[in-house]
Amino acid sequence: KRHLISAADLSRDDAVLILDTAEELARLADRPIKKLPTLRGRTVVNLFFEDSTRTRISFEAAAKRLSADVINFSAKGSSVSKGESLKDTALTLEAMGADAVVIRHHASGAPHRLATSGWINGAVVNAGDGTHEHPTQALLDAFTMRRHLSGEGPGVGQDLAGRRITIVGDVLHSRVARSNVHLLATLGAEVTLVAPPTLVPFGVESWPCEISYDLDAVIGKTDAVMMLRVQRERMNAAFFPTEREYARRYGLDGDRMARMPEHAIVMHPGPMNRGMEITAEVADSDRCTAVEQVANGVSIRMAVLYLLLGGNESAVAADRTEES
Ligand code: CP
Repeated sequence: KRHLISAADLSRDDAVLILDTAEELARLADRPIKKLPTLRGRTVVNLFFEDSTRTRISFEAAAKRLSADVINFSAKGSSVSKGESLKDTALTLEAMGADAVVIRHHASGAPHRLATSGWINGAVVNAGDGTHEHPTQALLDAFTMRRHLSGEGPGVGQDLAGRRITIVGDVLHSRVARSNVHLLATLGAEVTLVAPPTLVPFGVESWPCEISYDLDAVIGKTDAVMMLRVQRERMNAAFFPTEREYARRYGLDGDRMARMPEHAIVMHPGPMNRGMEITAEVADSDRCTAVEQVANGVSIRMAVLYLLLGGNESAVAADRTEES
Protein backbone atom coordinates (compact mmCIF):
# COMPACT_ATOMS: atom_id res chain seq x y z
CA LYS A 1 0.00 0.00 0.00
CA ARG A 2 1.25 3.49 -0.75
CA HIS A 3 -0.64 5.40 1.93
CA LEU A 4 -1.75 4.96 5.54
CA ILE A 5 -5.10 6.71 5.90
CA SER A 6 -7.15 4.49 8.19
CA ALA A 7 -6.58 1.69 10.69
CA ALA A 8 -9.75 0.14 9.31
CA ASP A 9 -7.90 -0.40 5.99
CA LEU A 10 -5.22 -2.60 7.60
CA SER A 11 -5.46 -6.35 7.30
CA ARG A 12 -4.18 -8.48 10.15
CA ASP A 13 -1.04 -9.23 8.10
CA ASP A 14 -0.46 -5.50 7.42
CA ALA A 15 -0.81 -4.65 11.10
CA VAL A 16 1.44 -7.46 12.31
CA LEU A 17 4.09 -6.52 9.71
CA ILE A 18 4.12 -2.91 10.99
CA LEU A 19 4.27 -4.05 14.64
CA ASP A 20 7.05 -6.57 13.96
CA THR A 21 9.02 -4.05 11.88
CA ALA A 22 8.70 -1.52 14.71
CA GLU A 23 10.11 -4.11 17.13
CA GLU A 24 13.05 -4.73 14.81
CA LEU A 25 13.72 -1.01 14.34
CA ALA A 26 13.40 -0.33 18.08
CA ARG A 27 16.05 -2.99 18.69
CA LEU A 28 18.37 -1.49 16.04
CA ALA A 29 17.88 2.08 17.25
CA ASP A 30 18.55 1.13 20.88
CA ARG A 31 22.31 1.35 20.45
CA PRO A 32 24.99 4.05 20.62
CA ILE A 33 24.67 4.59 16.81
CA LYS A 34 20.98 5.42 16.62
CA LYS A 35 20.72 6.44 12.99
CA LEU A 36 19.92 4.02 10.16
CA PRO A 37 20.72 4.96 6.52
CA THR A 38 17.52 3.45 5.11
CA LEU A 39 15.79 6.62 3.84
CA ARG A 40 18.85 8.67 2.92
CA GLY A 41 17.97 11.02 0.04
CA ARG A 42 14.22 10.87 0.76
CA THR A 43 12.18 13.85 1.95
CA VAL A 44 9.39 13.61 4.53
CA VAL A 45 7.08 16.63 4.98
CA ASN A 46 5.19 17.05 8.25
CA LEU A 47 2.10 19.03 7.25
CA PHE A 48 0.27 20.08 10.42
CA PHE A 49 -2.92 22.15 10.19
CA GLU A 50 -3.79 21.35 13.81
CA ASP A 51 -1.69 21.52 16.98
CA SER A 52 0.37 18.53 18.05
CA THR A 53 3.24 17.76 20.38
CA ARG A 54 3.74 14.00 20.37
CA THR A 55 2.76 13.07 16.82
CA ARG A 56 4.66 15.86 15.08
CA ILE A 57 7.85 15.45 17.10
CA SER A 58 7.85 11.66 16.87
CA PHE A 59 7.34 11.67 13.09
CA GLU A 60 10.27 14.08 12.85
CA ALA A 61 12.42 11.90 15.12
CA ALA A 62 11.41 8.76 13.19
CA ALA A 63 12.28 10.26 9.80
CA LYS A 64 15.62 11.59 11.06
CA ARG A 65 16.57 8.24 12.63
CA LEU A 66 16.04 6.74 9.16
CA SER A 67 18.27 9.50 7.67
CA ALA A 68 15.46 11.17 5.69
CA ASP A 69 15.41 14.94 5.15
CA VAL A 70 12.51 16.48 7.07
CA ILE A 71 10.48 19.61 6.29
CA ASN A 72 8.17 20.76 9.07
CA PHE A 73 5.17 22.78 7.94
CA SER A 74 2.78 24.32 10.43
CA ALA A 75 -0.36 26.06 9.16
CA LYS A 76 0.13 28.72 11.81
CA GLY A 77 2.56 31.25 10.37
CA SER A 78 2.20 29.90 6.80
CA SER A 79 0.29 31.21 3.77
CA VAL A 80 -2.70 29.12 4.90
CA SER A 81 -3.51 32.13 7.12
CA LYS A 82 -3.76 34.19 3.89
CA GLY A 83 -6.36 31.76 2.56
CA GLU A 84 -4.17 29.34 0.58
CA SER A 85 -6.02 26.09 -0.10
CA LEU A 86 -5.00 22.52 0.73
CA LYS A 87 -4.55 21.95 -3.04
CA ASP A 88 -2.14 24.85 -3.51
CA THR A 89 -0.26 23.94 -0.34
CA ALA A 90 0.07 20.36 -1.62
CA LEU A 91 1.23 21.49 -5.08
CA THR A 92 3.89 23.66 -3.40
CA LEU A 93 5.16 20.68 -1.40
CA GLU A 94 5.13 18.48 -4.49
CA ALA A 95 7.29 21.07 -6.28
CA MET A 96 9.82 20.65 -3.49
CA GLY A 97 9.94 16.89 -3.99
CA ALA A 98 8.12 15.36 -1.02
CA ASP A 99 8.42 11.56 -0.94
CA ALA A 100 5.97 11.33 1.96
CA VAL A 101 3.50 13.79 3.44
CA VAL A 102 2.43 13.29 7.03
CA ILE A 103 -0.76 15.28 7.47
CA ARG A 104 -2.80 16.34 10.50
CA HIS A 105 -5.94 18.27 9.65
CA HIS A 106 -9.05 19.46 11.49
CA ALA A 107 -11.25 18.17 8.65
CA SER A 108 -12.12 14.47 8.64
CA GLY A 109 -11.19 13.10 5.21
CA ALA A 110 -8.39 15.60 4.39
CA PRO A 111 -5.66 12.87 4.20
CA HIS A 112 -7.90 10.76 1.93
CA ARG A 113 -8.44 13.80 -0.31
CA LEU A 114 -4.68 14.39 -0.48
CA ALA A 115 -3.98 10.73 -1.27
CA THR A 116 -6.55 10.49 -4.07
CA SER A 117 -6.31 13.99 -5.57
CA GLY A 118 -3.26 13.54 -7.76
CA TRP A 119 -1.85 16.78 -6.30
CA ILE A 120 1.14 14.90 -4.90
CA ASN A 121 2.93 11.72 -5.92
CA GLY A 122 4.33 10.77 -2.51
CA ALA A 123 2.92 8.54 0.19
CA VAL A 124 0.32 10.10 2.48
CA VAL A 125 0.22 9.27 6.19
CA ASN A 126 -2.74 10.32 8.31
CA ALA A 127 -1.50 11.89 11.56
CA GLY A 128 -5.04 12.57 12.76
CA ASP A 129 -8.00 13.97 10.79
CA GLY A 130 -10.86 15.65 12.63
CA THR A 131 -12.89 13.10 14.57
CA HIS A 132 -12.19 10.37 12.01
CA GLU A 133 -8.93 8.40 12.48
CA HIS A 134 -5.43 8.47 13.97
CA PRO A 135 -3.97 5.18 12.69
CA THR A 136 -0.38 5.55 13.92
CA GLN A 137 -1.71 6.25 17.43
CA ALA A 138 -3.66 2.98 17.32
CA LEU A 139 -0.56 1.15 16.06
CA LEU A 140 1.64 2.51 18.84
CA ASP A 141 -1.07 1.64 21.36
CA ALA A 142 -1.23 -1.94 20.03
CA PHE A 143 2.59 -2.10 20.12
CA THR A 144 2.51 -1.02 23.79
CA MET A 145 -0.22 -3.53 24.65
CA ARG A 146 1.62 -6.32 22.87
CA ARG A 147 4.75 -5.62 24.92
CA HIS A 148 2.81 -5.75 28.19
CA LEU A 149 0.06 -8.25 27.53
CA SER A 150 1.18 -10.85 25.01
CA GLY A 151 2.30 -14.10 26.49
CA GLU A 152 0.78 -16.99 28.39
CA GLY A 153 -2.92 -17.73 28.70
CA PRO A 154 -5.75 -19.41 26.83
CA GLY A 155 -6.48 -17.70 23.54
CA VAL A 156 -3.73 -15.16 24.11
CA GLY A 157 -1.09 -14.61 21.46
CA GLN A 158 1.25 -12.09 19.92
CA ASP A 159 -1.68 -10.45 18.16
CA LEU A 160 -3.62 -9.61 21.35
CA ALA A 161 -6.25 -12.27 20.59
CA GLY A 162 -8.52 -12.72 23.57
CA ARG A 163 -7.34 -9.64 25.44
CA ARG A 164 -10.05 -7.37 26.88
CA ILE A 165 -9.47 -3.68 26.23
CA THR A 166 -11.67 -0.93 27.69
CA ILE A 167 -11.70 2.53 26.05
CA VAL A 168 -13.26 5.19 28.25
CA GLY A 169 -14.57 8.71 27.82
CA ASP A 170 -15.21 11.17 25.01
CA VAL A 171 -15.66 8.63 22.22
CA LEU A 172 -17.80 11.08 20.23
CA HIS A 173 -14.85 13.31 19.36
CA SER A 174 -12.10 10.69 19.45
CA ARG A 175 -10.23 9.64 16.33
CA VAL A 176 -8.03 7.61 18.69
CA ALA A 177 -11.01 5.52 19.83
CA ARG A 178 -12.22 4.79 16.29
CA SER A 179 -8.75 3.74 15.06
CA ASN A 180 -8.15 1.61 18.15
CA VAL A 181 -11.51 -0.17 17.91
CA HIS A 182 -10.83 -1.19 14.30
CA LEU A 183 -7.20 -2.18 14.77
CA LEU A 184 -7.76 -4.06 18.04
CA ALA A 185 -10.68 -5.97 16.51
CA THR A 186 -8.46 -6.89 13.54
CA LEU A 187 -5.88 -8.20 16.03
CA GLY A 188 -8.51 -10.31 17.82
CA ALA A 189 -8.96 -8.26 21.01
CA GLU A 190 -12.36 -7.77 22.66
CA VAL A 191 -13.01 -4.03 22.95
CA THR A 192 -15.56 -2.33 25.20
CA LEU A 193 -16.30 1.39 24.90
CA VAL A 194 -17.46 3.15 28.07
CA ALA A 195 -18.88 6.66 27.70
CA PRO A 196 -21.69 8.95 28.80
CA PRO A 197 -24.66 8.39 26.46
CA THR A 198 -24.21 11.93 25.06
CA LEU A 199 -20.59 11.22 24.06
CA VAL A 200 -21.22 8.09 21.97
CA PRO A 201 -21.11 8.67 18.18
CA PHE A 202 -24.03 8.02 15.86
CA GLY A 203 -23.63 4.63 14.17
CA VAL A 204 -21.39 3.14 16.86
CA GLU A 205 -23.55 0.00 16.79
CA SER A 206 -21.79 -0.97 13.56
CA TRP A 207 -18.32 -0.77 15.19
CA PRO A 208 -16.72 -4.11 16.16
CA CYS A 209 -17.02 -3.57 19.94
CA GLU A 210 -19.35 -3.60 22.94
CA ILE A 211 -20.80 -0.41 24.49
CA SER A 212 -21.24 0.17 28.23
CA TYR A 213 -22.25 3.18 30.30
CA ASP A 214 -20.90 1.76 33.56
CA LEU A 215 -17.13 1.85 34.08
CA ASP A 216 -17.33 0.05 37.42
CA ALA A 217 -19.05 -2.93 35.74
CA VAL A 218 -16.11 -3.58 33.40
CA ILE A 219 -13.02 -2.30 35.24
CA GLY A 220 -12.48 -5.56 37.16
CA LYS A 221 -12.13 -7.69 34.03
CA THR A 222 -10.01 -5.59 31.70
CA ASP A 223 -6.43 -6.16 30.56
CA ALA A 224 -5.90 -2.53 29.57
CA VAL A 225 -7.96 0.58 30.17
CA MET A 226 -7.43 3.46 27.77
CA MET A 227 -8.56 6.84 29.07
CA LEU A 228 -9.54 9.35 26.37
CA ARG A 229 -8.98 13.07 26.61
CA VAL A 230 -12.15 15.08 27.08
CA GLN A 231 -12.02 17.34 24.00
CA ARG A 232 -13.57 20.52 25.36
CA GLU A 233 -12.53 22.43 22.21
CA ARG A 234 -14.85 20.25 20.08
CA MET A 235 -17.58 19.98 22.71
CA ASN A 236 -21.15 21.29 22.73
CA ALA A 237 -21.47 22.24 26.41
CA ALA A 238 -25.04 20.95 26.49
CA PHE A 239 -23.76 17.40 25.94
CA PHE A 240 -21.34 17.44 28.84
CA PRO A 241 -22.06 16.58 32.47
CA THR A 242 -20.35 18.79 35.07
CA GLU A 243 -16.61 18.17 35.39
CA ARG A 244 -17.09 16.74 38.88
CA GLU A 245 -19.87 14.40 37.69
CA TYR A 246 -17.78 13.30 34.69
CA ALA A 247 -14.74 12.56 36.88
CA ARG A 248 -16.90 10.67 39.40
CA ARG A 249 -18.58 8.41 36.82
CA TYR A 250 -16.01 8.13 34.02
CA GLY A 251 -12.68 9.22 35.48
CA LEU A 252 -9.93 6.88 36.65
CA ASP A 253 -8.72 7.48 40.20
CA GLY A 254 -6.65 5.37 42.59
CA ASP A 255 -9.67 3.51 44.00
CA ARG A 256 -10.88 2.43 40.56
CA MET A 257 -7.38 1.51 39.44
CA ALA A 258 -7.04 -0.73 42.51
CA ARG A 259 -10.05 -2.73 41.26
CA MET A 260 -8.30 -3.54 37.94
CA PRO A 261 -6.63 -6.98 37.61
CA GLU A 262 -3.04 -6.87 38.89
CA HIS A 263 -1.49 -7.24 35.42
CA ALA A 264 -3.73 -4.62 33.75
CA ILE A 265 -2.24 -1.39 32.42
CA VAL A 266 -3.55 2.17 32.19
CA MET A 267 -3.10 3.95 28.86
CA HIS A 268 -3.63 7.52 27.69
CA PRO A 269 -2.77 8.89 24.21
CA GLY A 270 -2.06 12.37 25.62
CA PRO A 271 -2.43 15.21 26.13
CA MET A 272 -4.08 14.49 29.50
CA ASN A 273 -6.59 16.53 31.47
CA ARG A 274 -5.28 15.64 34.92
CA GLY A 275 -8.14 15.77 37.43
CA MET A 276 -10.78 15.15 34.74
CA GLU A 277 -10.47 11.79 32.97
CA ILE A 278 -7.45 10.69 35.04
CA THR A 279 -6.11 11.73 38.43
CA ALA A 280 -2.48 12.75 38.89
CA GLU A 281 -2.06 9.73 41.19
CA VAL A 282 -2.99 7.35 38.34
CA ALA A 283 -1.15 9.30 35.62
CA ASP A 284 2.08 9.19 37.63
CA SER A 285 1.72 5.56 38.74
CA ASP A 286 3.88 2.67 37.50
CA ARG A 287 0.82 1.18 35.79
CA CYS A 288 0.34 4.14 33.45
CA THR A 289 2.09 3.69 30.09
CA ALA A 290 1.49 7.22 28.69
CA VAL A 291 5.19 8.14 28.48
CA GLU A 292 6.14 4.69 27.17
CA GLN A 293 3.46 5.11 24.47
CA VAL A 294 5.25 8.28 23.28
CA ALA A 295 8.58 6.43 23.02
CA ASN A 296 6.91 3.54 21.18
CA GLY A 297 5.41 6.07 18.77
CA VAL A 298 8.84 6.76 17.32
CA SER A 299 9.38 3.05 16.55
CA ILE A 300 5.94 2.71 14.98
CA ARG A 301 6.41 5.82 12.84
CA MET A 302 9.84 4.60 11.74
CA ALA A 303 8.21 1.33 10.68
CA VAL A 304 5.43 3.09 8.75
CA LEU A 305 7.86 5.39 6.91
CA TYR A 306 10.24 2.50 6.27
CA LEU A 307 7.50 0.25 4.84
CA LEU A 308 6.01 3.03 2.68
CA LEU A 309 9.29 4.48 1.41
CA GLY A 310 12.03 1.98 2.12
CA GLY A 311 13.87 -0.18 -0.34
CA ASN A 312 13.35 -3.88 -0.67
CA GLU A 313 16.15 -4.78 1.68
CA SER A 314 15.34 -5.33 5.36
CA ALA A 315 16.20 -2.74 7.97
CA VAL A 316 18.82 -5.16 9.28
CA ALA A 317 20.50 -5.43 5.88
CA ALA A 318 20.53 -1.64 5.52
CA ASP A 319 22.01 -1.37 8.99
CA ARG A 320 24.82 -3.77 8.15
CA THR A 321 25.62 -1.77 5.00
CA GLU A 322 26.07 1.33 7.14
CA GLU A 323 28.47 -0.45 9.50
CA SER A 324 30.61 -2.05 6.80
N1 CP B 1 -1.71 11.60 21.00
C1 CP B 1 -1.54 12.66 20.18
O1 CP B 1 -1.92 12.65 19.02
O2 CP B 1 -0.89 13.72 20.76
P1 CP B 1 -0.55 15.10 20.02
O3 CP B 1 -1.84 15.80 19.73
O4 CP B 1 0.32 15.85 20.99
O5 CP B 1 0.17 14.76 18.73
